Amino acid sequence: MLKLTGTTKINIAVFISGNGSNLKNLILKSLKKRSKFEIKLIISDKATSKGLKYARKFRIKKKIIDYLNRRNAEKTIFVELKKNDIDLICLAGYMKILSKNFIKKFKGKIINIHPSLLPKYKGLNTHQRVINNKEKYSGCTIHYVTSKLDSGKIILQKKVKVLKSDDSNKLAKRILKQEHILYPKALKKVFISL
Ligand code: GRF
Repeated sequence: MLKLTGTTKINIAVFISGNGSNLKNLILKSLKKRSKFEIKLIISDKATSKGLKYARKFRIKKKIIDYLNRRNAEKTIFVELKKNDIDLICLAGYMKILSKNFIKKFKGKIINIHPSLLPKYKGLNTHQRVINNKEKYSGCTIHYVTSKLDSGKIILQKKVKVLKSDDSNKLAKRILKQEHILYPKALKKVFISL
């Protein structure tokens, strides 16, 4: 059960695989005086994830759990989540797909950020596909994680205009800026609805 009253904070684990700019942004938000959450644990599937540097910088516990064997990986993750009393999992650029079983255990407590206006452009390589299809708008979405990829209930979305001059890098950068605004907003919504 999530703790929604009193002064106790909601304990969050952020799962990353890459740069971790969303992670950094969430950490900075969590350090604000009136923040209702704490980033207690960072999990990455790769020791080379650039975002792991924020664990050191902000003195947050990190665990690198490879996926050579998904069952074992998820067992280890589960133990870590329990050990650290985690209430909510935030996926932020995590490139592994969690099993049905794992998701069931944390039903309604795993959220993800995806760089498109879901249900459009699920999966990878979203920005290039958006440009190839000459879409006028793209954006980002925060959604609950279910066993169907990028298909869980949408929490919040932000539209971003696609410019004529955009290539996938430029578009990704502008969308990422909006992701940093959207994720903390979505957390507020998630906390209220729990
Ligand atoms: C973001 O664009 C996110 O939407 C996607 O992966 C990217 C992660 O970026 N799922 P970062 O690692 O948070 O910088």
